[in-house]
Amino acid sequence: MTITNNHPGFGTATLEPPVDVRRRACSADEFSPLREIVVGRAAGAVIPQASDPSAWLTLYSHLDAGQVAAVDGGALPQQVIEESEEDLETLAETLRGLGVVVHRPSGVDHAAPFSTPHWDSASGMYSYCPRDLTLIVGETIIETPSPVRARYHELDGLRELFRGYLLAGSAWISAPKPQLRDSLYGVGRDGLPVLTEDEPAFEAANVLRCGRDLFYQVSTSGNEFGRIWLESLLGPQGYRVHPVRDVYPHTHLDSTISLLRPGLVLLNPSRVTEDNIPGPLRDWDRIWCPEMRETGVSATGQSLSSPWLGMNLLMVNPELAVVDSAQHELIAQLERHGISVLPHTLRHDRALGGGFHCVTLDTVRDAPAGADYFG
Ligand code: NVA
Repeated sequence: MTITNNHPGFGTATLEPPVDVRRRACSADEFSPLREIVVGRAAGAVIPQASDPSAWLTLYSHLDAGQVAAVDGGALPQQVIEESEEDLETLAETLRGLGVVVHRPSGVDHAAPFSTPHWDSASGMYSYCPRDLTLIVGETIIETPSPVRARYHELDGLRELFRGYLLAGSAWISAPKPQLRDSLYGVGRDGLPVLTEDEPAFEAANVLRCGRDLFYQVSTSGNEFGRIWLESLLGPQGYRVHPVRDVYPHTHLDSTISLLRPGLVLLNPSRVTEDNIPGPLRDWDRIWCPEMRETGVSATGQSLSSPWLGMNLLMVNPELAVVDSAQHELIAQLERHGISVLPHTLRHDRALGGGFHCVTLDTVRDAPAGADYFG
């Protein structure tokens, strides 16, 4: 679609999608055949200072105030950036080789400080995990209200792409802009940080999509108010938003539950039990994830995630997954269930806090939006 704006006295503006956007975004689950995807970038990554309450809450929510005081943020070593860039490019090449259109975020200056009337942020964060802040539900692109101050402008790197999808016919919306005042961040009796209910706040990676059913994790990276907002948007369109409470209290759901194909789910045995498994998944076949092989936290000595990041896999289609090559037992289990594996490596996944699901955002999959996998 090409639209031309002939404004008198102002020349001509032509609105066209970028050349690589030829169809609208359409992605309704985690496993249907993949057609287009965003693969993140490590360049320019900055780890936000833990002295900021929103960084403590979402990056180090297992540490108390004393422990987090010893944590350093800032730019990552050049070697970490370069090796991560190589690994992401290798992933992108593999996906291209499978016929998938791969988009990359454009460059953003994550080191630049910025402020609002309520707070200052010493820097941004990164474009490494495009999964985190954008939720695609069918043909609608939803920018989610991240509780992390440093991530306020992160989606600048995807703006050109979303502009293209809008021109191609997608809907593109943003949740109410969060204010992220100090009152959004509390401390519990155990001394650990808490996300309050001041305003809707959640990240897209708190959500897993499965046709007309979505699983929303209530945790430090997503509050009940955020769930209510998402339900207010999607409920009237026929979607069901299932709260996932008391399963994993920290950041993001995708090292706890992975939806592999209709009827088959991978579960983290240290977090999910017979008692707390989300209701709709009770009737699905389960793979209990084997113990993860510890891959270490690389040159930075600091980790933004647990070893369970190894189960943060990307389904290319219901029979093919990209999985951390170090996780031999998991790979064997998947193969026993008829899922072939493309083993890949992200050498600094834990330092940067993102596995294969995190570092990608599937924008087009072949799946009927609103399919009912639980009916
Ligand atoms: N915070 C999670 C990783 C989420 C992708 C974990 O540490 O297991």
